[in-house]
Amino acid sequence: MTDQLTIRRPDDWHLHLRDGAMLAAVAPHTARHFGRALIMPNLVPPVTDMAAALAYRERITSASKGFDFTPYMALYLTEDTPPETIHAAAADDAVIAVKLYPAGATTNSASGVRNIDRVIPTLEAMAETGLPLAIHGEVTTDTVDIFDREKRFIDDVLDPLRQRLPELRVVMEHITTADAADYVASADQGLAATITVHHLMITRNHILAGGIRPHFYCLPVAKRSRHRDALIAAAISGDPRYFMGTDSAPHTDEAKLSPCGCAGMFTAPVAMACLAEVFANHGHLDRLEDFTSVFGAHFYGFSPSEQKITLRRHEEPVSVMPVIEADGDQVTVFDPMSPVHWSVDDESQK
Ligand code: DOR
Ligand code: ZN
Repeated sequence: MTDQLTIRRPDDWHLHLRDGAMLAAVAPHTARHFGRALIMPNLVPPVTDMAAALAYRERITSASKGFDFTPYMALYLTEDTPPETIHAAAADDAVIAVKLYPAGATTNSASGVRNIDRVIPTLEAMAETGLPLAIHGEVTTDTVDIFDREKRFIDDVLDPLRQRLPELRVVMEHITTADAADYVASADQGLAATITVHHLMITRNHILAGGIRPHFYCLPVAKRSRHRDALIAAAISGDPRYFMGTDSAPHTDEAKLSPCGCAGMFTAPVAMACLAEVFANHGHLDRLEDFTSVFGAHFYGFSPSEQKITLRRHEEPVSVMPVIEADGDQVTVFDPMSPVHWSVDDESQK
């Protein structure tokens, strides 16, 4: 088996960096391996306009000083986002997407969209300017089972929306089901999907079988193995509509290990090593670079990086970094509970 792989420096097209002490603690773990990232806007308060996005970008740039890393921003869509904000964003290279959170779907989504009809003029401005809409694709209706929320969103919200605005460029973020992978495959234009590292490695059994493991709880929640296998097939397919967004989403252990724990996994430090393991185990290391470093860049209109990183395979499984510290609090790093034999070479970390 190949024991070394040099690829273009990857990009992370879905990333939570938070703010303040947490930002300072986590940003270097992404900036070390990744050249660019699309930064999610679900801060408190959310990043809803250009001034907030540019100020946040400055804070990220200082938190990742010393690394060759460029953050790109997503604006948070509310029912009050005016079309003018879209025109301002489309005219500024710093913002490359707008994020749609259905209100109540996930962490800090309370200011999100309750009724899609109320944002149509804003989405029309996006269709006109070509600014992509990055979607958290889950319905939030109490009566819909949490494992069915992604499929229901496709049927009830996304497909009608795409028929209404066929020019709108859409990224279904962090897809978790065969239904979503199939929906992307069936679209003839303007639809792509990000896939996370953790959804390629875990199933709902990781969360619930043999004990409840809050560190595997994220949203959309991991599904049964048939869905994970469909995501793996999509990721290794070489189809440019699927590309990597880690959705690395750090929370303190205190916030995760509670009676109502937060959703999200901190995967950034081990993302590339884990992905190499998945692609190697499925006989497609040759397609890792496209998934992590080429397809997403093309979707967002960038050239793939000219820089390289080297991944190395070890005979024995490597021990994953267990925790990092953020201002006295611990943040647990994703551990897939299966062997990982890869690491990123130090000299390729910038
Ligand atoms: O698990 C998740 N965590 N899913 C999301 O959509 C948001 C994220 C977060 O911000 O914690
Ligand atoms: Zn996210």
